Amino acid sequence: MNKTKHDQSIVHQFTRQAVPFSRQPAHSQESFLNLMLEMSGAGPEDTVLDVACGPGLVACAFAARAKHVTGIDLTPAMIERARQIQREKQLTNLTWQIGNVLPLPFSDEAFSLVITRYTFHHFLDPRAVWAEMVRVCTRGGRVLVADLTMPPEKRDFFDVAEKLRDPSHTRTLTPAEFQQMAVELGLQEVRTEFIKSERNLETHLRASFPDPGDEEKIRKIFREDLGKDALGLGAHLKRGEIYFHYPLIILAGRKGR
Ligand SMILES: C[S@@+](CC[C@H](N)C(=O)[O-])C[C@H]1O[C@@H](n2cnc3c(N)ncnc32)[C@H](O)[C@@H]1O
Repeated sequence: MNKTKHDQSIVHQFTRQAVPFSRQPAHSQESFLNLMLEMSGAGPEDTVLDVACGPGLVACAFAARAKHVTGIDLTPAMIERARQIQREKQLTNLTWQIGNVLPLPFSDEAFSLVITRYTFHHFLDPRAVWAEMVRVCTRGGRVLVADLTMPPEKRDFFDVAEKLRDPSHTRTLTPAEFQQMAVELGLQEVRTEFIKSERNLETHLRASFPDPGDEEKIRKIFREDLGKDALGLGAHLKRGEIYFHYPLIILAGRKGR
């Protein structure tokens, strides 16, 4: 898919997801946000950039600790939702910008901390975005990426199912691909953590906008995967409902001086 078409698919998908995405409890899970904060070393002197910030849940968590946070996202409805959430949280040290993250519309070394969550699997060229994140980070500053990750043997089937659920999904990176890119981009003192985030399939589908007819295909894939785990999500039944775990990676490193 070319970039313009992909960008249109992103805006189409996330305009509809803006409110339901922001209301999914898993997306505000404190333990996950706290781990991101801890790994990033965010503090009162930091000027932060949240890349593809969506409804600003991560940006607001960082704003409670940092000097200032800028959030940029391609989807106007997401930025509108971020403004609402900022008002509800009565935070004043945030700036929102509608725009594409490739290239990032900021000068070199403009931020001391550059972060992103749940975005790389939506980018056509995640490495180029990561390089941009490093470019706009100050020397000695930190860069943090949090996203889905899959072992190579599970990735292709997972990507098929995830594209059905969200047609703007591109490709899930393996842990080795994340780690290799961090090395290539020259990040130092790299720390990596892996965690699993539990989701209820039906709750997840209610916040998703598959193409017509695909919702039932997704249910079928999950039902048939119970006890097999070809998807790599550990799909299982609890009180008769399907639950699964998204495998997540958080990787934080320092830009050299
Ligand atoms: C799954 S949401 C994640 C939102 C947020 N980072 C979070 O974790 O709560 C992905 C976001 O990436 C944005 N996005 C995808 N591609 C983009 C691009 N090229 N430029 C800017 N934003 C983009 C979408 O609009 C959407 O809001």
